Amino acid sequence: MYPEFKDFVVVISGAASGIGLGTARLFIEEGATVISPDIDEEGLKKAAAELGERYIGKVCDVSNAEKVRALADFVRGEFGKLDVLVNNAATGRLTPVEAMTEEDFYYHYEVDVKGTMLMVTNFLPLLKASSNPSIVNISSGAAVVEFFDHHFLYSSAKAAVLKYTKHLARDLKGIRANCIMPGWVDTPIYERAGFERSVVEQVYAKVELQIPAGRIGVPEDIGNVILFLSSEKAAYVNGAIIAVDGGCITGGYWGFP
Ligand SMILES: NC(=O)c1ccc[n+]([C@@H]2O[C@H](COP(=O)([O-])OP(=O)(O)OC[C@H]3O[C@@H](n4cnc5c(N)ncnc54)[C@H](O)[C@@H]3O)[C@@H](O)[C@H]2O)c1
Repeated sequence: MYPEFKDFVVVISGAASGIGLGTARLFIEEGATVISPDIDEEGLKKAAAELGERYIGKVCDVSNAEKVRALADFVRGEFGKLDVLVNNAATGRLTPVEAMTEEDFYYHYEVDVKGTMLMVTNFLPLLKASSNPSIVNISSGAAVVEFFDHHFLYSSAKAAVLKYTKHLARDLKGIRANCIMPGWVDTPIYERAGFERSVVEQVYAKVELQIPAGRIGVPEDIGNVILFLSSEKAAYVNGAIIAVDGGCITGGYWGFP
C-alpha cells in the first residue's frame, strides 16, 4: 500500500507491546525496518522472534538521556538516517489528588513528556537526513476529556504531548509532526496500571456498548493511522491532532463504570 516504506527506517518507542508492537508489524509488512527502544527485555525478544530481522529491539529507557543518545548513535551508525519517529512509550496509573507525591509526578512526566522530548531532540539530525521525515506522537483522548477519576498526572502529561506536537509542527521546517489521541484500545496498558485482566474485561464489556463504533479498538486501528501519517499521501498533514477512538470523544462514553 505504501511502496515508499520499503527503504524506511522507523523508530517506535515502546514497541515491545500493544499499539507500538501492532504498528511495528504493519511497517514491517510494508518493507520498513523498525527499531524499538523499550524497557521490557522479554517483550522485545518475543517481538523479534515473531517479526524477524527487520525488527530491532533495544533495551532503552526513553527518559534516560544517555541511553537515548546511545540509541541515536546506533541508528546513525547502522542506517545514517531516520524516516519516522513514533513516540509511543508511556507510563500511567491512577493517583488520587489527596495522595499525589513527587514520585507520582515524575513517574508520568519523566517518560511521557521528557522521554518524548529527548527522543525528538536526539533524532532530529537523523530525521533531517530523510527525504520524507515525520514524527507521530501518541497522546490520548484523556488529553482533552476527563476520562477517569484520579487521572490528572497521566492526562496532563498527554496534554503536554499534544501541545508539544503543535509546537514541533510550527518550529521544525521540513519535518512534519502529528499527534494521535487513541480511545480505548485493548493492550496490556490497564494491567500495567494495576488492574486485573478480569476487571479490565468486565469494563470493556460495559464500555463497548457505549462506543459509537461498537467495539474496543485494537492496536492496528491506531497503527493504520500512524502509517498514513508517515506516508507521502500525508505530505500536507502537519500539526494535526487526530482522535482514533471509534467516536468516543464526539458521541461516546468516557468514565470508568
Ligand atoms: N491502550 C489504550 O487504551 C490507550 C489509550 C490512549 C492512549 N494510549 C497510549 O498509547 C501508547 C501505547 O500504549 P499501549 O496501550 O500500547 O500500552 P502498553 O503498555 O501495551 O505498551 C507500552 C510500552 O511502553 C514501554 N515503556 C514504558 N516505559 C518505558 C520507558 N521508560 N522507555 C521505553 N519504553 C517504555 C512498555 O514496556 C510497553 O512495552 C501510550 O502512549 C499510551 O499512553 C493507549
